[in-house]
Amino acid sequence: MRVIKAKSYQDLSRKAANIISAQVILKPNCVLGLATGNTPLGTYRQLADWYRKDDIDFSQVTTFNLDEYVGLAPDDPQSYHSYMRRNLFDMVNLRPEACHIPDGCAADLSAACRDYDAAIAQAGGIDLQLLGIGSNGHIAFNEPGAAFEKDTHVVTLRESTLRANSSFFSDGCVPRQAITMGIRLIMQARKILLIAEGPGKRNALHRALYGSISAEVPASILQLHPDLTVICHVEEDT
Ligand code: GLP
Repeated sequence: MRVIKAKSYQDLSRKAANIISAQVILKPNCVLGLATGNTPLGTYRQLADWYRKDDIDFSQVTTFNLDEYVGLAPDDPQSYHSYMRRNLFDMVNLRPEACHIPDGCAADLSAACRDYDAAIAQAGGIDLQLLGIGSNGHIAFNEPGAAFEKDTHVVTLRESTLRANSSFFSDGCVPRQAITMGIRLIMQARKILLIAEGPGKRNALHRALYGSISAEVPASILQLHPDLTVICHVEEDT
């Protein structure tokens, strides 16, 4: 595990974008696992900026997002599909057919989960997985108590997660269920890049990286990953 302390959010974003960019340069047809939330916004802005300057080419890259809310259509402005289009997909030359996000509106959600796992396997697995961390220690939407040995599945979100994500919803009403990559699938990524921003994440990050490995802190399993890089900026700014 490598832990890099960033000087600022901008520094964190630039360092994370550098690692993603290095992955794409070294393996132009790589498979990226992508995350949503506030934390990756600066990373995506930086990647889009480098794309505009012709410093990075996504034309052969394939992406898989971690999660999506159940019941939100891809064109719903509050869906993770819309978030990804707004913040990355429409800003760079990723091929639309190479960008995958779980289908939260599928008539058969279990089949959609199995199809998602199959598509990841078909693509050869994830080379680099970008992750944020919830203030309760969740990764993707794997809430405290989640089993470690799951692939893509449907989850019911905790109240704390609903509250934390309510700022993304104009009416504050966050869907109560989501489809998420499970921890087993996340752990199969060849490299993991975890980013954490703000004093609100300090405790969760500390427990994840240095506490005992327990389902109560889903991110703690990352201690067992052979190639984990953490970039954090969680101290109070002075
Ligand atoms: C959501 C996402 C997670 C993300 C977390 C933290 O719950 N499903 O993947 O890591 O929020 O988000 P933020 O970066 O906004 O704190």
